[in-house]
Amino acid sequence: TRVAIVFGGRSPEHGISCVSAGSVLGALDPDEFEVVPVGITRAGQWVLTSGDPSQLAINSRRLPEITAESGADIVLRADPTGNGLMVLDPTEGPRALADVDVVFPVLHGAYGEDGTIQGMLEMAGIPYVGANVFASAAAMDKEFTKKLCAVEGIPVGPYAVLRNGMTLSEEDKQRLGLPVFVKPSRAGSSFGITKVDDWADLDAAVATARQIDPKVLVEGAIVGREIECGVLEGEAGGAPEASVLAEVRVVADHDWYDFEAKYLDDACEYDIPAGLPDRVTRQVQEYAVRAFTALDCAGLARVDFFVTPELDVYLNEINTMPGFTPTSMFPRMWAASGLEYPKLVDRLIRTALT
Ligand code: DAL
Ligand code: MG
Repeated sequence: TRVAIVFGGRSPEHGISCVSAGSVLGALDPDEFEVVPVGITRAGQWVLTSGDPSQLAINSRRLPEITAESGADIVLRADPTGNGLMVLDPTEGPRALADVDVVFPVLHGAYGEDGTIQGMLEMAGIPYVGANVFASAAAMDKEFTKKLCAVEGIPVGPYAVLRNGMTLSEEDKQRLGLPVFVKPSRAGSSFGITKVDDWADLDAAVATARQIDPKVLVEGAIVGREIECGVLEGEAGGAPEASVLAEVRVVADHDWYDFEAKYLDDACEYDIPAGLPDRVTRQVQEYAVRAFTALDCAGLARVDFFVTPELDVYLNEINTMPGFTPTSMFPRMWAASGLEYPKLVDRLIRTALT
């Protein structure tokens, strides 16, 4: 099976995608898969890289980056014989480098996790790992994630949507209360998010979020624990499966689970499984599978929650291509559930091919 691992990309999560891809590349069984490692630069150029995982790690707080120099310039095109996707070298005339059976878009955020590359692959008729166009777009957008999950009876916290140019009304300030989290509606890895403790800081926070997305969410802060659950598409038409849960605890001097705490500062401790009563664990797992189903997800997702001191559960968001970095929760939750990293990657690719 020839699999294209596609990573980097045009979103602010470019570097995180590279780190995720490094882990996936390291976990692929070379006897099972022939790998075509395709990087996308921040400007959107596609290059055929070496796929060397050691080039795709965080080094003294510096994230890896795909540039035009990372490999040969290539294009991907539908194979005219209808057998999937071709990787072409345009510099030497369109010379085929490889026919690809399946694509694993290890891409986070815009142009990767939002339905756009999925649409390109649908048009090319090539199988790919993960959610389809609609589910990717719906889960990328925190407004629509909340709306679709809420109608399925999954609790979501209070929020307001500020479309382009809108400001928060006085009624919404009263309703949400302080603190609030101001977020780009479509982003990931905590990019563009600010915790606001004073309404005087709101406009600056909205401007920061709008650098990433003109649509901004203002969420009332839920005081509670950060709990995550992995979901995999069921095998042989079975129901989706939930992993054991993880709790993320920010321990070093970070106020919340921001980008630096997540990836750079070693500021978090992870409890896998999370120490929750069985009843709450089952509730979170049930909501995670219900959310996966509500959005028509496929392949995989990581569903993130808050659990309050009173043990009320609120859905925070859904990631249709969760991080695969060495510190990322998704592969670790599955390992703790009995599915080791290489088996997980194998299952994701096989699911995509069926
Ligand atoms: N958006 C990041 C990669 C995550 O959800 O893990
Ligand atoms: Mg996310």
